Amino acid sequence: MGNFVVSARKYRPQTFDSVVGQSSITTTLKNAIKNDHLAQAFLFFGSRGVGKTTTARILAKTLNCFNLKEDIEPCNECESCRSFNEGHSFNILELDAASNNSVDDIRNLIDQVRIAPQVGKYKIFIIDEVHMLSSSAFNAFLKTLEEPPAHAVFILATTEKHKILPTILSRCQIFDFHRIQVQDIVDHLKKIASQEGVTADDKALHIIAQKADGALRDALSIFDQIVSFSNKNVTYEAVLKNLNVLDYDYFFKVTDFALDGNIPDNLLIYNEILAHGFDGGQFLLGLADHARNLLVCKDPRTIEILEVPADLRQTYSAQAEKAPQEFLLTALDLLRSTEEKFKASKNKRLHVEVAIMKLTSIISTLKKKEIIA
Ligand SMILES: Nc1ncnc2c1ncn2[C@@H]1O[C@H](COP(=O)(O)OP(=O)(O)OP(=O)(O)O)[C@@H](O)[C@H]1O
Ligand SMILES: [Mg+2]
Ligand SMILES: [Zn+2]
Repeated sequence: MGNFVVSARKYRPQTFDSVVGQSSITTTLKNAIKNDHLAQAFLFFGSRGVGKTTTARILAKTLNCFNLKEDIEPCNECESCRSFNEGHSFNILELDAASNNSVDDIRNLIDQVRIAPQVGKYKIFIIDEVHMLSSSAFNAFLKTLEEPPAHAVFILATTEKHKILPTILSRCQIFDFHRIQVQDIVDHLKKIASQEGVTADDKALHIIAQKADGALRDALSIFDQIVSFSNKNVTYEAVLKNLNVLDYDYFFKVTDFALDGNIPDNLLIYNEILAHGFDGGQFLLGLADHARNLLVCKDPRTIEILEVPADLRQTYSAQAEKAPQEFLLTALDLLRSTEEKFKASKNKRLHVEVAIMKLTSIISTLKKKEIIA
């Protein structure tokens, strides 16, 4: 266990191009550096674990790099890059506003701002979680932000833009970091798996990526957890078990039985799901997701937004072809209202079973109403 480094730290990108899923931001930053058109204050905003701090550090390092590469990437070898990578650069200062949010902390920082850099062009201040600064600290900072010395660059990062004073926002160039797409997360995990000598199947990585909900850091932590749980063999089954996620297969079966009007088999599947320790709420949400995926498959243009493993696409398309649009829309409505009332219901099992029976009767009802043939 001695020198185990968690993947989120071990694989923190060191260059703009290795930042995943934020290429519009990294390209804009590179261009600004190339054209010497740099703002003095930036605000990096976006949900947790999507690369704000990472990009702030790369930007800071790039600005002070002595041997900037042609593609505007830091060399990671010069004195400035090295001292930063080793964590003792005097020109790049990081303040975690979550734990240093008093006026005194900001005054210390302002004192530093006045002093010109010893080596390199810029003195760069990265203020993380900037929304945590107290309002008096914010006010003290505002003056500095208004008239910074030419050598100072500020990179503010936050998950909560609405908590930042408008007067600060208006002085910053704002970059909106997006949640990372499932496929991008999967590709990133694949690379790491091969570097770590871990076998990982595509379906397994997809479940991890979905669970991470757009946060790459979360994806890496889940990945680490399953690597150690599964002894470096990240299979679909290991992931389902570890993350307590329902197998896609159940949803395909439930949908098939619903299309056939087969109530008994659907009740038996639900029984099996409960026996495996899942709860009805998870089942309802999963099934609604499944219905959404099938709807998305109905049109070649929306098939692009289907976030499932490549080898499952065909299976989705095939079921989507069998399932009439009216059925899917009615099912989604039913699942949504059942889910809404799920928490408050006294007999949860019966509540879901009734929904399953209704779901499995949709086709015959639609036929009676002559909505479908
Ligand atoms: N876009 C990304 N590309 C590659 N790795 C990333 C990306 N985003 C996050 N990571 C991974 O997650 C770790 C944490 O990312 P980072 O600290 O940049 O997130 P953050 O957006 O600042 O999150 P927080 O809001 O929680 O501070 C990184 O060390 C890296 O391993
Ligand atoms: Mg951060
Ligand atoms: Zn360098």
